Amino acid sequence: MSEPLKVAIAGLGNVGVGVVKILQQHRELIADRTGREIAITAVSARSRNSNRGVDLSNYTWVDNAADLAQMDDVDIVVEAIGGEDGIALELAQNALKNSKSFVTANKAMVAHHGALLADLAQDNNVALRFEAAVAGGIPIIKAIGEGLAANQLSLVYGIMNGTTNYMLSQMEATGKSYDEILEETDALGYLEADPALDLDGIDAAHKLAILSSVAFGTKTDFDNVYIEGIRAIETVDIAYGKELGYRIKLLGITKYENGTLSQRVHPVMIDRELPIARVMDGFNALVVDGDYIDRTFYQGRGAGEGPTASAIVADIIDIARGHNGAAFFKPSHKLVDAQSVTINERQGAYYVRLHVEDHAGVIADITTSLKDANVSVETMLQKGTERDGTVYVIMTTHETRETAMKDALNRINELSSVIENPLSIRIEKL
Ligand code: HSE
Repeated sequence: MSEPLKVAIAGLGNVGVGVVKILQQHRELIADRTGREIAITAVSARSRNSNRGVDLSNYTWVDNAADLAQMDDVDIVVEAIGGEDGIALELAQNALKNSKSFVTANKAMVAHHGALLADLAQDNNVALRFEAAVAGGIPIIKAIGEGLAANQLSLVYGIMNGTTNYMLSQMEATGKSYDEILEETDALGYLEADPALDLDGIDAAHKLAILSSVAFGTKTDFDNVYIEGIRAIETVDIAYGKELGYRIKLLGITKYENGTLSQRVHPVMIDRELPIARVMDGFNALVVDGDYIDRTFYQGRGAGEGPTASAIVADIIDIARGHNGAAFFKPSHKLVDAQSVTINERQGAYYVRLHVEDHAGVIADITTSLKDANVSVETMLQKGTERDGTVYVIMTTHETRETAMKDALNRINELSSVIENPLSIRIEKL
């Protein structure tokens, strides 16, 4: 067997510890599969004294993670610290500059700095890998970059945030309100340290920006991802969606056509019978369309110690096998600056929930607003008068332009009988 591959791990939270566990427990299995021993040589974390349930006594302890980039007996630095910039980015840049391969689960950092890091990896002839950054246990980056490498890909979409999928599933299963389910989800520890990352769709957008680059060979362009989260969704929307044959999911959707890239993350209503609509609770799922494969579908756990650490170790194994290829499966100087398509270009149908006073002429005013904005209604339901004399009006539209829908909603919002901001959810035919 050749020389062991020497690994340093920065960050010993659940994910870092998970990597240690797998490399210890599956040492022989991995060495057999790889033809090379993988040896942890150094670790670093904020607190040396925490009991992490793994034996770290054989590894050099390093107080400052940045020092791992300089160490001689390190071939690969694994980063499980997190954060878009700061210590993680410094470590990534220094490790790559010092010709150490770099493996990370850091979606925010790769989404924002992917092209820069890919350049550094290429210039220094080492590997940059981030399978764990997107959908943890689903090997979607390898599936796209290797298994589907023969195809021109045109569309990738999916459930990329397990926490919000869990919340939407629980709202449907229990009928409890968004706020109640949020509290329960928080108590279970499912939310990111900054819950906005989950709830506002930012986490899913990080993953989408990475997938766009992997799938289409475009430069990571997080700033042009349109992002809407799930905070405005109420249990009534889930119930009305069900009556209409839809289920609400928070999807990331990226499309590349004729040099233009459309990237968006927002709640959608989709046919309840679609395979992806049936993916519930904390699971992730992805769909990839290519010209020679038609459609492929992937499902698995997107978060947690095991799935994330499994993806990191797979990347380490890849490097141990000598796979040093380009991070985005294309030389970094060939990554394209795609022209971005804004959400205003969207054409499609919408679900709209209005909360209005229940008196004569309200529906007439609403339909006049829609007519004036050139939006055509497909269905309209009025749900019984509540005790306070208000009512929900639920509509779906025929296909229309996003700009027309916005115009209609602005007009409706100005009506004195409309009590709260209208909610609209895009209906996607996928
Ligand atoms: N907050 C993320 C999620 C963690 O819920 O999917 C995994 O990236």
